[in-house]
Amino acid sequence: MKTYGGARPILAPSILAADFTCLGDQIQAVSGAGAPYLHIDVMDGIFVPSISFGMPLIGSIRKCTDMIFDVHLMIEEPWRHVDKFVECGADILTFHVESIRHPTHVQQTIEHIHHLGIRAGLAIKPATPMEILLPYLNELDQILVMTVEPGFGGQQYIDACTDKIRQTRSMLEEHGLSTDIQIDGGVTQDNIRIPVEAGASVIVAGSAVFRGDPAANVRTLVDAMNGNQR
Ligand code: DX5
Ligand code: ZN
Repeated sequence: MKTYGGARPILAPSILAADFTCLGDQIQAVSGAGAPYLHIDVMDGIFVPSISFGMPLIGSIRKCTDMIFDVHLMIEEPWRHVDKFVECGADILTFHVESIRHPTHVQQTIEHIHHLGIRAGLAIKPATPMEILLPYLNELDQILVMTVEPGFGGQQYIDACTDKIRQTRSMLEEHGLSTDIQIDGGVTQDNIRIPVEAGASVIVAGSAVFRGDPAANVRTLVDAMNGNQR
């Protein structure tokens, strides 16, 4: 039985910044240091300029860990690939509201993900107003508020997005929902409290985890996230 979300914020290391020559070891390191989610960025070179990786890599690392696979789809027409991502081991599939033109398809994609027995999330870019999520609010397990432009790791946290996190939390509270709010991009040990205090419950960090010693970085980030001094 996997545990998602919860009272305390969760750290989700993003393997985009990992050393792929020893990916299995890096995953063991972040898992051993207590990170429950593994954030997996899938990019198609169309929705975003870069191409990252896809099902073969996910299927392969599925064999070496029980971590929750939190798959962030930065791809056009995500519905085409939902079955394959579930087959290769995704536990949460989050796609971008901007990647689908027709609102009915957004709804159908969420339903399809749920039908396959995993959690569904919707992501929004920094410039997209979060009101666009209103029609889907009741169906979502997770909302991903991007705190950088999607497409690359190692960018700087966009301060203006903090307000958006607050607004998303208020919007959810108004609807009596405790949906997870995930944030992604530019997190460091110095700024990690900012999104948490604004209401985020799942914090993605790529460079801040994998540059240097991943296990030590996870422990430092988790402490900082929970407001503990080291
Ligand atoms: C960016 C990706 C992020 C990225 C974050 O499009 O969605 O998950 O890996 O990297 P950092 O933490 O380095 O900003
Ligand atoms: Zn991501």
